[in-house]
Amino acid sequence: MRITLVPGDITTQNVDAVVNAANSSLLGGGGVDGAIHRRGGPAILAECRELRASRYVNGLPTGMAVATTAGELPARWVIHTVGPVFSAGEDRSELLASCYRESLRVADELGAAGVAFPAVSAGVYGWPMDDAARIAVGTVSATATRVSEVRFVLFTADAHAAFDLALSLLDRP
Ligand code: AR6
Repeated sequence: MRITLVPGDITTQNVDAVVNAANSSLLGGGGVDGAIHRRGGPAILAECRELRASRYVNGLPTGMAVATTAGELPARWVIHTVGPVFSAGEDRSELLASCYRESLRVADELGAAGVAFPAVSAGVYGWPMDDAARIAVGTVSATATRVSEVRFVLFTADAHAAFDLALSLLDRP
C-alpha cells in the first residue's frame, strides 16, 4: 500500500472514498464533517438519516465506520467514522486505531482502491496532533487491506509536519 500526504481540503479529493470525522449522530457537525456535508449536498445527509433510522438507531458507536454515497463530491463514497474524544486520564488509542481499521474494512467491502483520511479526532475532539498522526500512520500501515493508496489530507502545516514525522519514523528499521 502506498501512503501519501497531501495538504488541503478532503472534500476536493479525487479518490474512491473519503473518510469523514463524524460524530455518532451521523447528522453533521463542524470541521471535516461540516465541509463534507456542505460540499457533498443533501444526498449524504439523507442517507445518514436512513442509517440512523435502520442500522444505528442509537448512533454509530465510537471506533466504527459506515459508508454512504458521496453526493456531489468527486469521490464515490463517504466512509463515516466516529473518533474518540481525547482524554488525558484514559487511553483511548485503541478506539482511534479502530477508526482507521474499520474504515479500511468498509473500503474493502466497497472495493475502493484509493481512500483519503483526515486526521481523525485531532480537531474538535482534541487529540494531540503528533500522537494522532502516529496512531493513524501506524495503524494504516499495519492493516491488511486491498486498498492500494491511502492519502492523508492535512488541513494545516502542523498536521502535515506531524504526519511527515510519523511516516519517517515508520520507515526506520
Ligand atoms: N479537510 C481536511 N481536514 C480538515 C478539514 C477539511 N475540509 N476541515 C478540518 N480539517 P475535526 P474531530 C482537519 O474537528 O476532531 C465535528 O463537529 C482539522 O484541522 O473535523 O474528529 C464532528 O461532527 C483537524 O486536524 O474532527 C464531530 O462532532 C482534523 O481535520 C467532531 O467535529 C479533524 O478535525 C469530530 O472531531
